Amino acid sequence: MTTKTRQILVTSALPYANGSIHIGHLVEYIQTDIWVRFQKMQGHQCTYVCADDAHGTPIMLRAQSEGITPEVLIAATDKEHRADFAEFNVDFDNFHSTHSEENREIVETIYKRLRDAGHIEQRSIKQAYDPEKEMFLPDRFIKGTCPKCGAEDQYGDNCEVCGATYAPTDLKNPVSAISGATPIEKESEHYFFKLADFEPMLREWIKGGHTQDAIGNKVSEWFESGLQSWDISRDAPYFGFEIPDAQGKFFYVWLDAPMGYMASFKNLCDKRDDLNFDDYWKVDSKHEVYHFIGKDIAYFHTLFWPAVLSGSNYRTPTAVFCHGFLTVNGQKMSKSRGTFIKARTYLDNLNPEYLRYYFAAKLGNGIDDLDLNLDDFILRVNSDLVGKVVNIASRCAGYIKKKCDGQLSATCSEPELYQSFVHAGDKIAELFEQREFSHAVREIMALADKANQYIDEQKPWALAKEEGKEQQVQDIYSTGVNLFRVLMTYLKPVLPAMAEATESFLNIDAMNWSDISEPLTGHEINKFKPLMTRVEQEKVDALVEASKEDLKQEHHKTERKATIKKVDKKIEPIADEIAFDDFAKIDLRIAKIIKAEHVEGADKLLRLTLDIGNETRNVFAGIKSAYQPEDLEGKHTVMVANLAPRKMRFGVSEGMVLAAGPGGEDLWILEPHDGAKPGMRVK
Ligand code: 2FM
Ligand code: ZN
Repeated sequence: MTTKTRQILVTSALPYANGSIHIGHLVEYIQTDIWVRFQKMQGHQCTYVCADDAHGTPIMLRAQSEGITPEVLIAATDKEHRADFAEFNVDFDNFHSTHSEENREIVETIYKRLRDAGHIEQRSIKQAYDPEKEMFLPDRFIKGTCPKCGAEDQYGDNCEVCGATYAPTDLKNPVSAISGATPIEKESEHYFFKLADFEPMLREWIKGGHTQDAIGNKVSEWFESGLQSWDISRDAPYFGFEIPDAQGKFFYVWLDAPMGYMASFKNLCDKRDDLNFDDYWKVDSKHEVYHFIGKDIAYFHTLFWPAVLSGSNYRTPTAVFCHGFLTVNGQKMSKSRGTFIKARTYLDNLNPEYLRYYFAAKLGNGIDDLDLNLDDFILRVNSDLVGKVVNIASRCAGYIKKKCDGQLSATCSEPELYQSFVHAGDKIAELFEQREFSHAVREIMALADKANQYIDEQKPWALAKEEGKEQQVQDIYSTGVNLFRVLMTYLKPVLPAMAEATESFLNIDAMNWSDISEPLTGHEINKFKPLMTRVEQEKVDALVEASKEDLKQEHHKTERKATIKKVDKKIEPIADEIAFDDFAKIDLRIAKIIKAEHVEGADKLLRLTLDIGNETRNVFAGIKSAYQPEDLEGKHTVMVANLAPRKMRFGVSEGMVLAAGPGGEDLWILEPHDGAKPGMRVK
């Protein structure tokens, strides 16, 4: 470990200002916060900044649908986000907004420098335009029929059903998801950042080891497929900053988002004498800058961002650290299963330190996904933290308080054992530095086992019954307390609240890595209060139930919106007439759903195994938004049995199940009355 004080600036990705923080986000904030707290405990000057990502079309539209201005929306979200982070003990040195004067100044400066150096080009492009709403439509706001397989209600860039990718202009019967109007094609002038100008610089940067290997490899693939110019402008109406020399054109949200890191830091520098913006951001700065992000936004942070910084005469990041996604009980977080857990709902039910510990116990420095298994969560927290760590203190504190007036022995009776704990700190520190938190936690828990084993072997409770053994008993318990202090010092980056409670129990100043070289001797401690209670199964169950309730409330809101939209929406015209004979060709049969399953990678489909009397059929049905697979099994329904098999991305579909409804949650399969038997013809 170097002993020199380092100057470090750290960021986490900026959360969008139109949504709540959930436990998926928290993986990153907790990971970053642990690393920052660790650096501070080493005595380094480490500054952690973040902000809300406040611009863009979704935020503009969300504000409109709520009948408020974007400014009001982002102010409300800012308040909510700050409260969530504070209660999870995510301790930013500054939390700001991309919709700030600092950010406007930075994006304008950077843009002008890029433009003047010739890295911006202008060209006219054609895009889908909503003539009713009078705005250009981002791909995700266009829906229509897949040009390849004919599946309806597909988003503007790829088909969920057959997996085809296409331009939104290729969709058949496209409609604007905002107004329901048919989009037209319209041309407009856009501004592009010439990323290819920076290919040599980026290749060098990647070679320099500023990313994890897996990300470096991914970036090399991107080089191979060619660096395209990046469209950094959007037409009005848009919630963002207007481009200085282009009226009615705005900077695309992803251009000014990472600049929000700088803006938040600038805002902090203006409040603090010990921090200087240029020292950190000038081209030849020796200070360190780290971005913690999810692997899904690596392109923005390992290509666009270093290129933009380099092209505008700022330093590039020391490193970009990517992490994987969170799954819960082995699956993608799911609203209906109650595993899409908002930060606030978690806080209403459980101690945030449980989650901090659990994530730490699972996080390495790679980009693998990490799973929150709720059963394992309960076991792990209870056995490690309550059963091992807190146990040491609770075993020792009572005797010291009652029989020794709270005084620890005047000398340490086990200097070697104590020093072995201190010594282990070097390796643990290195693991924290390398973001190998799960490994660090394993080392700490091995020490906790050792401390408990020491007390077990010494049996102070038995000695306490013998005459004249008072000093020995005090020594053993004092050693126990001192070992506990070392462990809590190592755990402090992970468990700041429990560490603070420890500091008041031990009657000591804020614990730092360097203080533990000497044990506490002849020192008075305070009365022990339980530092952490067990995770209760009922509370975890309540959390899952409450998360399902969150979903219902959201449905309520969207239903209201959907009703408004339905009234507004023109009824689709009836399709061309068909002859009765055409209709008679459709062979409808009663089918029993014998199996229903999720389809890996599909957002809308369920795979159904259907019994139609003398055969079984495999059918993909787009009803995932409305049904849980387990609720379908055993039901009877109606299928088109003579539809030619269709090859889809996930397999062959041998028929079609009939369902009706406006979509989303409101979609119903036909459910014939009792007495229906698989294979019966429906007439
Ligand atoms: O993906 C997201 O949630 C973005 N709001 C992250 C932005 S990170 C940075 F670039 F600002
Ligand atoms: Zn398709």
